[in-house]
Amino acid sequence: MVLANIVTQPESARALLRVENLTKIFGSGKSEVVAVDNVSFSIYRGEVISLLGESGSGKTTAARMLLRLSKPTKGRISFEGQEINTLKGIAYWRNVQMIFQDPFSSFNSFYSVHSFLSKAFRLTGDYSSESEQRARMEQSMESVGLNAEELLFKRPHELSGGQRQRLMIARALLICPKLLVADEPTSMIDASSRVGILNMLMDLSRKHKMSILFITHDIGLAYYTSDRLLIMNEGKIVEEGSAEEVVETPSHPYTKRLLADVPTLRKQWDVE
Ligand SMILES: Nc1ncnc2c1ncn2[C@@H]1O[C@H](COP(=O)(O)OP(=O)(O)OP(=O)(O)O)[C@@H](O)[C@H]1O
Ligand SMILES: [Mg+2]
Repeated sequence: MVLANIVTQPESARALLRVENLTKIFGSGKSEVVAVDNVSFSIYRGEVISLLGESGSGKTTAARMLLRLSKPTKGRISFEGQEINTLKGIAYWRNVQMIFQDPFSSFNSFYSVHSFLSKAFRLTGDYSSESEQRARMEQSMESVGLNAEELLFKRPHELSGGQRQRLMIARALLICPKLLVADEPTSMIDASSRVGILNMLMDLSRKHKMSILFITHDIGLAYYTSDRLLIMNEGKIVEEGSAEEVVETPSHPYTKRLLADVPTLRKQWDVE
């Protein structure tokens, strides 16, 4: 009977990514920092979810472990049912990509924009002609508001922070992973372009059933973009629920405090 249940379970009910009891401790003794403290959650296919918390609550540390860029002190992360450590790096990063909070950290200063973007084709095993690849690079750059003609052969230090962030989004558009972890993806982009870029990522999610984990301390942005919210405080997930549930009936004092800072939230979003 149990087996029958598993077989008939719809695909949408199975987690794309499952995190169980994830913990990261930096340092030891007196200088020990428990950055992520026994965190568990799942991300389902096609859903947009936000991990919300104030500065230093452990969001980036958790994200880096999801991407296999940092080793958990404890806990387990599985992707499509397989522990991520057992998967080949290339295969994993084709499916799970990250837009970094600090766009400096993700570029090698020797590589041009062109070589940064062309890696997307290698990663996805796409061997279309050079001219076709070039056309798609230009298209993805233009779609995030970057002038390809001007920037394609520039190197990272010649770009502004906002341009680097846009470039990472352009690369995500080319790869279209199953899960995109976006750590404050528009923090360096002017407010007037921010909504357009977020909408573009959300369209991509709808069209390709791409799941997105947004990381932010902006509860308004999280509510606007996400199906579900995870509230993180001092390394722990203190509340989890649909965006509506959490905003309308917050249960944890920390969530209430976050919401108290944006009293206009309901009104603001209700106008539409
Ligand atoms: N490599 C590291 N070595 C030691 N401590 C670290 C390291 N990286 C992060 N920390 C600590 O872990 C805690 C969580 O940091 P983290 O960068 O994950 O926070 P965050 O929620 O992403 O914050 P922000 O919103 O400012 O980006 C902080 O106390 C930080 O000082
Ligand atoms: Mg961070």
